Amino acid sequence: MSAKTLHFNAFIWPNGYHESAWRVVNDDVRNVLSLSYYTDIARTAERGLFDSIFLADNIAIAEYRATYLPQTQFDPISVLSALAAVTDHIGLIGTGSTTYNKPWELARRFATLDHLSGGRAGWNIVTTVTPLAAANFGEPVHPDHADRYARAHEFVEVVTRVWDSWDDDAIIGDRERGVWADRSKLHAPRFHGEHYDVEGVQPFPRSPQGHPVLVLAGQSGAGIELAARYAEMSFSGPPSLEAAVSFRADLHARAAASGRDPEQLLVLPALMVTLGGTEAEAHARARQLEELTSPEFRWQNALYTAGLDPDAYDPDVPLPAHLWAEQSPSTRADQLFAAARAQPDAPLREVAQRVSGGAGQTHFIGTPEQLADHVIAWQDAGAVDGFTIMGSTLPYELTAFVDHVVPILQRRERFRTEYTGSTLRNHLELQRPSA
Ligand SMILES: Cc1cc2nc3c(=O)[nH]c(=O)nc-3n(C[C@H](O)[C@H](O)[C@H](O)COP(=O)(O)O)c2cc1C
Repeated sequence: MSAKTLHFNAFIWPNGYHESAWRVVNDDVRNVLSLSYYTDIARTAERGLFDSIFLADNIAIAEYRATYLPQTQFDPISVLSALAAVTDHIGLIGTGSTTYNKPWELARRFATLDHLSGGRAGWNIVTTVTPLAAANFGEPVHPDHADRYARAHEFVEVVTRVWDSWDDDAIIGDRERGVWADRSKLHAPRFHGEHYDVEGVQPFPRSPQGHPVLVLAGQSGAGIELAARYAEMSFSGPPSLEAAVSFRADLHARAAASGRDPEQLLVLPALMVTLGGTEAEAHARARQLEELTSPEFRWQNALYTAGLDPDAYDPDVPLPAHLWAEQSPSTRADQLFAAARAQPDAPLREVAQRVSGGAGQTHFIGTPEQLADHVIAWQDAGAVDGFTIMGSTLPYELTAFVDHVVPILQRRERFRTEYTGSTLRNHLELQRPSA
């Protein structure tokens, strides 16, 4: 392969990532609650030689969402464990919150997935934006942004120590002497920090990848700092090519400053795609989705994704200015507040039209040929190592990507023609950390 191979991660979302997806696909609406929905998508992504599939996690659901969107937020690890049994190669990345888990327990769950899948697990590290989570976990308050990231540093440190608590060669299996493992090769974390105290070893040996692959999508200064320190894959990236090039360069410079090899941090920003056999067909499909969007959903979602409770605000008056006098709860809140400050007299409903939806991803609309050109241009400019592909509808966009975009990229020698290894680290060309 002349240029470096691209990497692709398939974002799985019920019926597709566009808010109107569920209204245009033909499936039975309840199908998104069945294992077969996930199985079909995972197998399609694997047929297309994707590096990984990805499941998000939202541990508190504002009730307004049930009106407008399919609600399918299962526990990602449970779903990925089921998918491990029906796939052979594809990486399995799931989200886990550092604010609402205990590090020892989370380390165990991801290492279990890594064992059961033969080394295909990845952990998307999130600090959880929505304050609604606190009440679900019996916490009196949702920690603020800075506090969440301070904890996250310690949390990830503890998790990696738990994963490293067995040397790779600890199992002996000496039946004659009756020694299953060499106890001298166990190293208890015995971690005592500001936020966490964790004593004991993982309750099984080190997993195939040593560490499941560490992923982050932080966009704030603190989020980027955490990614530079630990992440091996970033899902973030700004929408313009120029900004994306400097984002990746900055991330790499910061990774190098913390003593890491920048090559070991891949940037696969989220890209929502709508494909068509012709440009006109792609635009017609995207238009149909846009025409079905709901302004009611838009303002509530703008608040929710910014970490605010939609039930607490009136859409027909401006957002209260005291919000931006306090510390911002998230990057998405900054965007919303900036839009509100630009139009201080406009009601929330109107301001919300100006902030992007979902994970802040770009929406690509076009033909497979155009998408292949786009992906290659971004790789050549040094903006990305690949993309996290969000089909605006599923499985249509993923199937179209696999059947039509992948062959173009293969012909242009930018994408693998077969899996050459069996672990997620192999696919991503990431080193396996030593214990
Ligand atoms: C592709 C992508 C996937 C994400 N997945 C999740 C998720 O599953 N759960 C979650 O709570 N946040 C998720 N986030 C939000 C990020 O973790 C992060 O909080 C957000 O990008 C804001 O950055 P900040 O935390 O640095 O302010 C995701 C973001 C992106 C771009």
